[in-house]
Amino acid sequence: MSRTVTLVTLAIVIVAIGIVFAQGPGPRPGGGGRGGMGGPGGGGSVEQQKDPVAKDAEEKAILDILADMNKNQSGGMMNVSPADGRLIRMLVESTDAKKAVEIGCSNGYSAIWTCLGLRKTGGKLITHDMDEGRSKLARENFKKSGVDGIVTLIFGDAHETVKKLEGPIDILFIDADKEGYGDYLKQLLPKVRPGGLILGHNTAMARGNDGMGGFIEAITTNPDLDTLFLNPGGQGMSLSIKKR
Ligand SMILES: C[S@@+](CC[C@H](N)C(=O)[O-])C[C@H]1O[C@@H](n2cnc3c(N)ncnc32)[C@H](O)[C@@H]1O
Repeated sequence: MSRTVTLVTLAIVIVAIGIVFAQGPGPRPGGGGRGGMGGPGGGGSVEQQKDPVAKDAEEKAILDILADMNKNQSGGMMNVSPADGRLIRMLVESTDAKKAVEIGCSNGYSAIWTCLGLRKTGGKLITHDMDEGRSKLARENFKKSGVDGIVTLIFGDAHETVKKLEGPIDILFIDADKEGYGDYLKQLLPKVRPGGLILGHNTAMARGNDGMGGFIEAITTNPDLDTLFLNPGGQGMSLSIKKR
């Protein structure tokens, strides 16, 4: 059983690294608004990588909305890249996540990628933001893509609002105020289930181990965690497992 779990985890990480490395070089501070869902928009260094192919009409409708958001709504939204969105969806679906938590919703782009996985696992997402305009857009986008029944947006300063969150969390995605990552981890790590995942976006922005409010130091030295840094030449995303 533990051998199977190890092999599955290894497979997930290999897929993750392959996809995220395929984004190519160069910092991508805004994240969204470039190219397609997988190929040239991510740098174009790996020609094999193509846009995702929808399995059914529902998935196609959601992918079309994501592509439209990426093309027409990304200005000032600081969204993850399409490739990072696809990676999040894969991690959610492959780990059979039932409870996902996101810090930093913006207009809901990464949240909708998360929901693409959750609609298959039967899970739910709780996301957080404190910007009125972006939160309003997110709610509209959730409705349009039909995921409003599986996502709850909590409005307010997430450093306060996460105090009320209940575990166990299967997957935690942090993509808000960069200096706050350490605090989010400190508050939420006890609520992440053993075997659960913690993703930190834009880790390439961190300078030194004390960057991101101690987040980098914590995820690389805590013996309860094992961490890889994906796409270090681009936006950067840390992937940590909370060991069983
Ligand atoms: C990088 S954007 C999130 C992008 C989103 N994950 C996506 O890819 O679509 C960061 C968001 O975090 C929000 N934010 C920053 N500090 C926050 C805080 N203390 N509490 C809640 N939200 C916060 C901002 O309003 C902004 O919308």
